[in-house]
Amino acid sequence: MKENGNKKQEQLEQFRANDQGKEMTTNQGLKLSEDEFSLKAGERGPTLMEDFHFREKITHFDHERIPERVVHARGFAAHGEFELYESMKDYTSAKFLQDPSVKTPVFVRFSTVAGSRGSAETVRDVRGFATKFYTEEGNFDLVGNNIPVFFIQDAIKFPDLIHAVKPEPHNEMPQAASAHDTFWDFVANNQESAHMVMWHMSDRAIPRSFRMMEGFGVHTFRFVNDQGKAHFVKFHWKPLLGVHSLVWDEAQKISGKDPDFHRRDLWESIEMGKYVEYELGVQLIEEEEEFSFDFDILDPTKLWPEEDVPVKIIGKMTLNRNVDNVFAETEQVAFHPGHIVPGIDFTNDPLLQGRLFSYTDTQLIRLGGPNFHELPINRPVCPFHNNQRDGYGRQTINKGQVSYHNNSLANNTPTPVSAAEGGFVHYQEKIEGHKVRRRSDSFKDHFSQATMFWNSMSQPEQMHIIDAFSFELGKVMSKSVRQQVVDMFSNVNAEMAAAVADAIGVTPPGAKESNITKSSPALSQLNTKKTPYT
Ligand code: HEM
Repeated sequence: MKENGNKKQEQLEQFRANDQGKEMTTNQGLKLSEDEFSLKAGERGPTLMEDFHFREKITHFDHERIPERVVHARGFAAHGEFELYESMKDYTSAKFLQDPSVKTPVFVRFSTVAGSRGSAETVRDVRGFATKFYTEEGNFDLVGNNIPVFFIQDAIKFPDLIHAVKPEPHNEMPQAASAHDTFWDFVANNQESAHMVMWHMSDRAIPRSFRMMEGFGVHTFRFVNDQGKAHFVKFHWKPLLGVHSLVWDEAQKISGKDPDFHRRDLWESIEMGKYVEYELGVQLIEEEEEFSFDFDILDPTKLWPEEDVPVKIIGKMTLNRNVDNVFAETEQVAFHPGHIVPGIDFTNDPLLQGRLFSYTDTQLIRLGGPNFHELPINRPVCPFHNNQRDGYGRQTINKGQVSYHNNSLANNTPTPVSAAEGGFVHYQEKIEGHKVRRRSDSFKDHFSQATMFWNSMSQPEQMHIIDAFSFELGKVMSKSVRQQVVDMFSNVNAEMAAAVADAIGVTPPGAKESNITKSSPALSQLNTKKTPYT
């Protein structure tokens, strides 16, 4: 078996500091004789500016913090490897998906979305599930979530969504993403969020462990094989331990008792040698079948029902090594859905298209300039060469007079290569149409799949959803917003909406026109509980 799995580890090894038993020096290598007393004018006198050791130590400390991620700030990561079960040659030319004997190193960061870096981990929220595959052809990042759909259809709305989700700006309260007026006001006034909100109010949003969570690429990507034939593809991670959730009462108690619950669980599991496994699955649709569904396969608020498009399991990822340093690895890692390799390409999903801009843009400020690809955790395991030069924190010492292409002065600059030699070629999709700011009509169906989700839930799961809506909406001050949300979700299920209305003291939708029965099992259980949500 070809063992490429530890190639990244070997690379990181070169950057690892070993300070044990070493003499203490300044950053300039000057050995120090004293590290506890600053230099003073007399035993009781003021500290002297001349004390370069004091200045260097304090200055470095003063600059230790970098901006937290604008979203997904609270995260935890581990190293591992990916192995393929069967060659995917028929579908993609991606080298790491050809040969089952090749192991590809991976780095995975799990996260919550809304909370700040120090926030509790068992909150009700979407979880990020971002994987960096260090392949022989460059880094491939699968930057996914634990829910298969998203709140919005077009990236231009992302700042609006996040402004509504984060703590409210005038008083930074509440911390909880889904328990405040702006979040629910956004939902009611952007009804494409309905399907995602159903998942968000379900047990999926309070996972028991990172080890027991699914992951989804969410967007539709393309696989392209070496004949140039393309398939639409969606990516799935399936945990071998199965999917498990907390119940809300547990989640709240754990948040108080151990805000680090999820990272501790992952860390300890790996330390104990109980490695963490997920299978990689793909759903594939032929190009010719693009319009065979009653939804647009490029709409990120819709999933592809697994009964119609089965998930083909193609490989397994094992997380088997904790990081050495959270800042250097977990915090400095820079994922980007635009990091792809030959054989994988984008589609015109309007959410994905916008993400392709956002990640590098934010990392330029978060990681301090254009050279963060040189940070050990971000370096590909294959060589990288181009004519980019200089910038803050540049580490590479590029030699020679010439740093442009084409040139006649030197033959030492890198040159592009053909597809046959591994050069990336964009899939030549035929594009026709007018410049417009709209999408196809099926994007306007916000409720069919939300209803499908509700109908797929067992009775206890439906109860949890009603309880979650009631708890979260019960915290909303604006009665108008509460009413709007209840009215909106009556499009998903009238009894569910009526039960929530009852719990939070607003008018059941359609109460005047129709006589909504209070006979559903979920509803009668809720009534007997008499939970005081308002
Ligand atoms: C992180 C933007 C949608 C998954 C981020 C970050 C930004 C961002 C700016 C911080 C990156 C960093 O500082 O390194 C956006 C935009 C979106 C969008 C503009 C929509 C237009 C999504 C979707 C998913 C997702 C649909 C899931 C499929 C993630 C994950 C992270 C992240 C997992 C954390 C990566 C890490 O652990 O470092 N996103 N995002 N995002 N995003 Fe998105």
